[in-house]
Amino acid sequence: MEFKAIVDVKAREAADCAVVGIYEQGDLGAGARLIDTQTGGMIANLHNSGDFAGKLGDALLLSLPAGAAAARVLLIGLGAKSTFARKQFRKALQAAAASLSKTGAVHAVVYLTLEDVADLDVPYRARMVAEVFSVHAYKVPDLKTSPKPKPPKLAMISVAVENARAAKAAEEGLRIGVGVGSGITLARDLANLPPNVCTPTYLGKRALQLAKQWPSIKAKVHDESAIRNLKMGALLAVAQGSDQPPRLIVCEYRGTRKSVAPICLVGKGITFDSGGISLKDPPAMDEMKFDMSGAATVLGAMRTVAELRLPINLVVIVAAAENMPSGGAVKPADIVTTMSGQTVEILNTDAEGRLVLCDALTYSRRFKPAAVIDVATLTGACIIALGNHFSGLMSNDTALSDELTAAGNRADDRAWPMPIGEEYVEQLKSNFADIANVGGREGGACTAASFLWKFAKDLHWAHLDVAGTAWLSGSQKGSTGRPVPLLVDFLVHRAAAK
Ligand code: BES
Ligand code: MN
Ligand code: ZN
Repeated sequence: MEFKAIVDVKAREAADCAVVGIYEQGDLGAGARLIDTQTGGMIANLHNSGDFAGKLGDALLLSLPAGAAAARVLLIGLGAKSTFARKQFRKALQAAAASLSKTGAVHAVVYLTLEDVADLDVPYRARMVAEVFSVHAYKVPDLKTSPKPKPPKLAMISVAVENARAAKAAEEGLRIGVGVGSGITLARDLANLPPNVCTPTYLGKRALQLAKQWPSIKAKVHDESAIRNLKMGALLAVAQGSDQPPRLIVCEYRGTRKSVAPICLVGKGITFDSGGISLKDPPAMDEMKFDMSGAATVLGAMRTVAELRLPINLVVIVAAAENMPSGGAVKPADIVTTMSGQTVEILNTDAEGRLVLCDALTYSRRFKPAAVIDVATLTGACIIALGNHFSGLMSNDTALSDELTAAGNRADDRAWPMPIGEEYVEQLKSNFADIANVGGREGGACTAASFLWKFAKDLHWAHLDVAGTAWLSGSQKGSTGRPVPLLVDFLVHRAAAK
């Protein structure tokens, strides 16, 4: 799908569908006003007769007579004008994307970007258009044998803007939106794959493919013996119960001078989490194929960064393993030595994410990173705390935490700060090793993050617990691609600050 910004009225009229908004009180949006004039009051009549009330997210497709701005118009309800803001704008766009995909329109011009959206400037409006339409076009890579439905005809989306300056800003927003869409797509594709396909080895291959596609990315995949040489005892312990060997995947993106310290993104890449010897209950165990969502999203963010050619340096580290029970599996009470030298008593083999991550965090030090952000579907406790709306955000650096919170707000991919500290580390006390890998039920998301904190000392570090946000359950089951939008927004702002 292609996106562009158009100022010129004649050029807009070349599209075969105009997407226009109507507010609940009958106020016509900019595009609706235009068509209303061209059709002798048709749109206002529709509202006055009660045929289209302008309820947020409602959609109505109409053919237009010759001479109007387009062959069709898609009316989108915008709700009350006084409350029209970011959320409502997104909902309106989602409604437009859903309706348009069922029409024969090939080129649609979206007039909604001309509306006043209280908390959204022109580039972000454009960005949201590109993101929403790209995400809507996403198809799960399914293995269904039934014939695939025909793909929609829609190939070009234009956004209407006021003037040349706005067009320039919108074009940049569209470019970022397309990039975000592409990162989300990669993340979702990887996370949605079944775990018999998406193994640690497979993730490594996909990273090498990314590097092949983008000369700005270098990838290196460390196999089991290399991981042993690195003395990553915690990552190895998680992997030892599985027939699938672990991988440490390292991608380096160079977008600026070598001397500029990189941002490091670290992803939890458990391609299936059975719990190991501390086996999980059967209900919803299938969802533990998503336990590599952190890895999928950091790889997705890297793809976006390469596509956008951001002037930053970025390192992506994925600790990939499968957590399985077997005769050789790690057991509760086993003690392992991590790459940092600290010893860990593994009291629960289902708390494996922090084990693979602590070694990856230690590994990140060799890049002398400006900041390290790990992304992990780390705890069920985080879902209990925040539900599916916010990712948990823990950090030892207030400025970094604020930066990530702001990025999440702007990108509509929000995170909420949660505490870490010695109080929680106290819960992780072990009688036999430096630290235990679990600290009881209370504050489970915070003890997990505080465990990681012990390995992130002196780093500018933040942790995103995405257990509640990375995928949807139920009939909508599948990966969401979160927090790719947050990560990309953060990186785009870091790039601009230079
Ligand atoms: N991958 C899970 C976390 C998880 C659980 C994500 C449910 C989404 C839904 C993680 O490895 C895990 O099993 N965590 C345990 C930790 C506990 C043993 C301290 C949990 O949250 O139950
Ligand atoms: Mn687990
Ligand atoms: Zn897990």
